[in-house]
Formats: sequence, structure tokens, C-alpha cells
Amino acid sequence: MAKARKVVITGGGGFIGSHTAIELVAAGYQPVVVDNFGASDRRIIGRAQELAGARFSVHEVDCRDRTALSGVFATEGDCFGVIHFAAHKSVAASAPDALGYYDNNVGSLTTLLGVMADVGLTKLVFSSSATVYGEADDLPVTELSPTKPAESVYGRTKQVCELIIADTAASKLPLEAVTLRYFNPVGAHPSGRIGELPIGVPANLVPFITQTAIGLRPELTVFGGDYATVDGTCTRDYIHVVDLAKAHVASLNWLARQTRQRFNEVFNVGTGKATSVLQAIQAFEQASGQKLRYRVGPRRTGDVVESYANVDKARAELGWNAELGILDAMRDAWQWQVALRDNPL
Ligand code: WQD
Repeated sequence: MAKARKVVITGGGGFIGSHTAIELVAAGYQPVVVDNFGASDRRIIGRAQELAGARFSVHEVDCRDRTALSGVFATEGDCFGVIHFAAHKSVAASAPDALGYYDNNVGSLTTLLGVMADVGLTKLVFSSSATVYGEADDLPVTELSPTKPAESVYGRTKQVCELIIADTAASKLPLEAVTLRYFNPVGAHPSGRIGELPIGVPANLVPFITQTAIGLRPELTVFGGDYATVDGTCTRDYIHVVDLAKAHVASLNWLARQTRQRFNEVFNVGTGKATSVLQAIQAFEQASGQKLRYRVGPRRTGDVVESYANVDKARAELGWNAELGILDAMRDAWQWQVALRDNPL
């Protein structure tokens, strides 16, 4: 049997990274986890290894530490590519900590690109966000839709990172990059063994819903009920984390097939379907059998009204398609929330 190809996943202990590690093993790759465990939990990696039926090598390293990061590649030897997840991701925390966000999100990328160049590694999959589109003029959003000034410092760090990757790919350094623009990642592993671990009060809809249903929060506030949408609430494209993880595997396989050099190819990763907040609540109630306490409150500053992806490019080029829907995501997110209560980490 051919030796599994090593793939370095920065932020491999996080929500999307840990699910991706499992899918990498299933596809014949060997994950090498790099994480500073600042916002993730080592025990998640243990569980991901059990689910994958494989051991990962794990390096507790901050990607901004060039010496330590170089050490990872020196230790691991030949690698196929890198998936770069490691980043701060809180919209709310990013404004008061703007410099910290730029330092971490941009600094880790530039350090990583430098180290990759040093060791002659060219293949990169970068974790970006649909937030770069802002309030789109036309829906669904395609990869050619213009990017708009982001509403948050977090969003701007993703825009800056995208520019750095595009400029580097056009420079003298060889870089073959895939930039994945995630819509709204939700759900959990169907085993109930791993999922999202929000820090503090969740800002995102699905963890807030599951924490409310389990009794950790008194009720959910729906942010605005008077938008010009199907039912007055904002719509989003909720993508199951397992589908999202598989998009990274498809991206690596796609990179393996490319014969050209020095490029950055952008792909939307969503389901292509819009779901309103009220529809999401309904889906949760149906999938979990729980009644959710909620009330419609004021709008949240900075919210985009509607966002959903055109995924034709990912389907055609990557051969990837979302297989799971909002009901699957709600069922799995709820199962994970219950498992966390009954069998805490
Ligand atoms: C979804 C919908 C809210 C909470 C953000 C970031 C994005 C990405 C994912 C990455 C909106 C509504 C929410 C609540 C609510 N970040 N809502 N009550 O804002 O689309 O995207 O997270 O790591 O970059 O911007 O996701 O889950 O916060 O909100 O009514 O308590 O749910 O108004 O319409 P969002 P979200």
C-alpha cells in the first residue's frame, strides 16, 4: 500500500479542523495537527482519533512562532500540503482586540507561508468566510460577486488574508492555493463524540439554540423580525460541518490533479439553500423533539440580511456537493449538546 500523504492541519483541534482530520483519514491522508490549544481542547483530538481509527501526530505550536513551526515540518518530513484553519473567529471580540486579531490571523498566515516556502511546500487550503461578500447585490452569491468592506474586524482579517494569498500566489514564491469561503458552519459529528465548543455565551445561532433547549440559557432572541425576507428574519446558508470537512478533502484531491502552478482558486462552500432564523428554529424543534423558548427582538448591528451560496463551481471543479441538510445539522448539534451534558469532556 502507498504511504498515506501527510497533511498539516493548523487549528486541527478546533470545530472544523477536528472534523476534517477524520475525513482526511477516511480519504487516505495522514493528518498532522498543529494547534496552540488557545481556543480548543486536546481531548477533542483524542476523540477524533478514536472516530478516525488512527493516531495523529499533534504539535502544540502557535503558528506565529516561526522557529517552532519550522520544527514541525523538520520533524514530519515530507508533507503533501497544509490546511490552515488556525485563527480567532469571534466577530464581537474582534473589535476591542483589533490588533490581537490582525496579529493572530494575519501573522499566523504570513509565518506559515514563509515556512512553507522554506521547505518547498506549495499546496495550501485556506479557511475563509462568506463574510467577505458583505451584503451581496445579487443572490445566490457566486465567487465572482464583489467582496464588500467587511462589517467586523474579524471579517477584515479574512479579507486581508485572502489578498495576501492571492499576492503570494502571483509572486516569485510558488503557491498553489484553494481558498474556501464557508457560509454558516453548523452541526456536529453524527457520533455525538465531537462538535463545537463555544467559549462563553455563544454568538452564533445554532449553539445558542442548543444551549437554550438544554437549559443553559433562558431563551433565544431572534435578532429582528421585520426584514424584507420570507418571514421577516435573516436568511443564511447553513452547511453541516461534516460536509464542510469533506470539501477540504475534495480540495486536496483537486490540488493533486492540477498541472499549473502559482494560483489561488476560490470556492464557495455552502448548500445553495437559504434558511431563515424562524425556519432554523422550526428545523431544530422537528429534529430534536424539543420546544424552544424564543422571542423576536431588535435587529443585531452588522447583520447581513440574506446570504446563500451558488455552489456550481465547487460541484463542477471539486466534485463536491453538500449531502446533509438543516435537519441533519440540527439533529447532530442537539445530540452533541446532550452528550456534552451527560458525558462532559
Ligand atoms: C445567523 C443568523 C442572526 C444568534 C457569523 C460570522 C461569520 C462566521 C459565522 C466564523 C443571523 C441570527 C443569531 C442569536 C439570532 N464566522 N441569530 N439570534 O452572523 O451569519 O455569521 O458566524 O467563524 O463570519 O459573521 O452567523 O450564527 O451569528 O447568525 O437571531 O442569538 O441567526 O441574526 O441572522 P452569522 P450567526
